Amino acid sequence: MDNKDQLLEVLSSETIKTRVCELGEQISRDYHGRPLVLVGILNGAFIFVADLVRNIRNPLRIDFVRLASYGSQAESSGRISITKDIELDIKDTDVLVVEDIVDTGYTLKYLKEVLKLHNPASVRICCLIDKKERRKVAVEVDYVGFDIPSGFLVGYGLDFNENYRHLPAVYHLNPVYKPEGFMPSDR
Ligand code: PRP
Repeated sequence: MDNKDQLLEVLSSETIKTRVCELGEQISRDYHGRPLVLVGILNGAFIFVADLVRNIRNPLRIDFVRLASYGSQAESSGRISITKDIELDIKDTDVLVVEDIVDTGYTLKYLKEVLKLHNPASVRICCLIDKKERRKVAVEVDYVGFDIPSGFLVGYGLDFNENYRHLPAVYHLNPVYKPEGFMPSDR
């Protein structure tokens, strides 16, 4: 982390809080009180998951997965593997995958296919930030917090070299040191 990195706030903590509350309400309504398994994607979604679950009224169990994607700092190559799998039984259960940001779509497309092998009743996706314009593969996102087309974003779980995840708001980052391939428009 470099103190000279420039951070420009794009989503205040109040704006995020209001939208997360709305998403929780919508999810609670849509699932009509049915039990849900929420699967959060580590590491980036940890704060969003923690806030979202406190706004969902359904019976809820929570699990996490972690995926590795190979590529540059700025963009996934599309080769994904699971480094921490789910531990709950999701057979015949509604599953809601919670992600911080959808960029190329490779991560969610892969995870959705893997989760379907467990024969859940359904799999839906909720993301905090959608970068639709950067999609490389089609993936249906059922609940979107915010559409933000461009900018490298940090805070509220999102990182740059593992820094800035703890910040309560979301910022555009303009780092002093730009690794090879870093573009301000990239995640
Ligand atoms: C980021 C983000 C998503 C993924 C989205 O994760 O949290 O999981 O990339 O990219 P995609 O749509 O292009 O597949 P990252 O690999 O940076 O790990 P992190 O969650 O630990 O920050």
